[in-house]
Amino acid sequence: MKGKDFLTLAEMTPPDLESVLSLSAALKKGRAAGAGSTVLKGKSVAMIFEKPSTRTRVSFQVAISELGGNPVSLSSSELQLGRGETIEDTGMVLSRYVRCMMARVNSHASVVKLAKASSVPVINGLSDLYHPVQILADLLTLSERKGRLKGLRVGWVGDGDNVCNSWAIGAALTGIHFVAATPPGYEPSGEAIKDAKHIATKTGAQIRAGTDPEEAVKGADCVITDTFVSMGLEAERDRRARAFLPRYQVSAPVMSAAKSDAIFMHCLPAHRGEEVTADVIDGPSSAVFDEAENRLHTTKALLCFLTLAPREFSKLRF
Ligand code: CP
Ligand code: NVA
Repeated sequence: MKGKDFLTLAEMTPPDLESVLSLSAALKKGRAAGAGSTVLKGKSVAMIFEKPSTRTRVSFQVAISELGGNPVSLSSSELQLGRGETIEDTGMVLSRYVRCMMARVNSHASVVKLAKASSVPVINGLSDLYHPVQILADLLTLSERKGRLKGLRVGWVGDGDNVCNSWAIGAALTGIHFVAATPPGYEPSGEAIKDAKHIATKTGAQIRAGTDPEEAVKGADCVITDTFVSMGLEAERDRRARAFLPRYQVSAPVMSAAKSDAIFMHCLPAHRGEEVTADVIDGPSSAVFDEAENRLHTTKALLCFLTLAPREFSKLRF
């Protein structure tokens, strides 16, 4: 059986997500003792990169190795994909070799096509529309810092980008109240917000997309942002700087409008002096390096979830 794909985060039910996060915490705790070290024994996982990556590349490579598997990291320019072989043919061929695939792609449509053609689970390692693996790490970090997720308030200030879209879905699945403030014209995807609002009807989460940073951060337990120049949008840098600065920069005054114990999160890479000031990202409320570390633990749990049969997954204890 193929098993599930993981393309937006909306593929998971609230209990699925809860079990992946709780397994992530167990794998984190048991890392030194080799927790999970045979889950991928004798299996390979392919990673395809159409864009650069530090955290996704290294955390996947280490996660696969520590689960006993063999990571195969490929840039699209090294593959025949770079010479015009279709993503579908690539997926059908790689499916004959590996147990799971991760792809970081320019266009979300590519990872959807890859998943449709592949007979093994496909993970979106970032597309222009979604970055679901990042949100797993963010949710683990937030729950470590706050002891719970349901009922927390998260304020997003900045671009309504891939991370923001998957955050709206992650918040909806976990019962978090999520308010995004973006400049007009840089809103999150209408489809992501629609899906998040639909999920939220079952979990009690509140999901809002607006333009007012003060409203987003008021009473927030966490303030979160991302670059306003995502990979591939470099030509828009000047226009975006005019739209985002200074109002949509996370600075000390912005943080002080949140709860006094609010944390700051950012998926990284960050641009100090652009979307966030150095005193915030390097200050005491910042959780960004725990967040980066948690990419490793949550990726391990995700690989267990996608590659094991549900009965085997539910029996995992570390
Ligand atoms: N946060 C994140 O996905 O980082 P990379 O682009 O370095 O993988
Ligand atoms: N929104 C950013 C995330 C980088 C991890 C980008 O797409 O470049």
